[in-house]
Amino acid sequence: MRIDVVTIFPAFFDILDVSLLGKARGAGLLDVRIHDLRSHTHDRHRTVDDSPYGGGAGMVMKPEPWGDVLDEIAGAADTGIRPTIIFPSPAGEVFTQATARELSTRNHLVFGCGRYEGIDERVFAYAATLGEVRLVSLGDYVLNGGEVASMAMIEAIGRLVPGVVGNPESLVEESHEDGLLEYPSYTKPSSWRGYEVPDVLLSGHHGRVAQWRRDQQIERTRLRRPDLLSDQI
Ligand code: ADE
Repeated sequence: MRIDVVTIFPAFFDILDVSLLGKARGAGLLDVRIHDLRSHTHDRHRTVDDSPYGGGAGMVMKPEPWGDVLDEIAGAADTGIRPTIIFPSPAGEVFTQATARELSTRNHLVFGCGRYEGIDERVFAYAATLGEVRLVSLGDYVLNGGEVASMAMIEAIGRLVPGVVGNPESLVEESHEDGLLEYPSYTKPSSWRGYEVPDVLLSGHHGRVAQWRRDQQIERTRLRRPDLLSDQI
């Protein structure tokens, strides 16, 4: 999968070199390219923002650098396919595990990280001529820009790309994959500081273990995320 990221803070993405995603990049499973939006400005101050038409607080990202960088990524793309262009935004559709699954099947994703009060609206219309545009929110809170949101999405999507996570079974039994929260896990020692591992997990009885885990999933979901249970009915 190819992933291009447009940002005015390329250093945010240095951590893509470490951990599982770093390995996946090294192995050629993820081809991640970071683009500095300021490299697509043409003035001495490398200006990427300006005051909003109509007035109001804050600054808006100018369309010209965005047009140039999107042309470079999508227009001249060596992938030959229309990318999915994701703009992280608190005004977007909410990102879920289902979104991550869907996007993990794409060949080419572009993340456009906005800052300030947002990006000139015409950029989204222009981007739609180059690929599928998605405005995506991490949740109902406001971050300073799209960088942290893009990192979170790249990790959630990247780990679903076949081969990135060594044991694919570990993807199946985790929170949100079946619409429920994950069951609790324990490892040795069976007794630790007065806390015991539930007897059923030591019983060696696979059927009872499976039933207990399912019950735990439902109970945890009922307590912590009842909204997920009502989604299922
Ligand atoms: N940019 C600012 N806030 C955001 C959020 N909640 N999700 C995605 N991108 C954002």
